[in-house]
Amino acid sequence: MIFRQLYEPDSSTYTYLFGCRDTGRAVLIDPVLETVERDLSALQELDLTLSHTLDTHIHADHVTSACRLRSLTGCKVAYPEMDGLPCADLGVSEANPLREGSLTFQPLFTPGHTDTHHSYLIDLSGSLRVFTGDALLIDGCGRTDFQDGDAASLYL
Ligand SMILES: [Fe+2]
Repeated sequence: MIFRQLYEPDSSTYTYLFGCRDTGRAVLIDPVLETVERDLSALQELDLTLSHTLDTHIHADHVTSACRLRSLTGCKVAYPEMDGLPCADLGVSEANPLREGSLTFQPLFTPGHTDTHHSYLIDLSGSLRVFTGDALLIDGCGRTDFQDGDAASLYL
């Protein structure tokens, strides 16, 4: 399994790249428009084909590059099913994880930062990790004061 943490400073967005060595295919969690070229370069350097983008949530403070990457690479766009996005190729939910080769992205419903926010539980070579988007940050949590945020939901 291949894993990279990537950072975009203008929107303070962490994007995560996961690659399956068996299939040569990759998934990007929370890619943003500012870093399309960086993400394509990373995939090329690692000799990976982008299979899916997977977003934790929709928000004005970071604009996803999912549809741009789809038009450039032919990847599929995955979102939390409850968002009901017409542009999504597939919806994920706690009952419907995303699988790519040896990788499984298990959605966890984590509302509060937005009302449909999902985190993703992933087994990284025997070590379980949760990718929490903007629900849970280092030394804090995501803001809840705009665009479908709710502090009580985040606390629960
Ligand atoms: Fe956000």
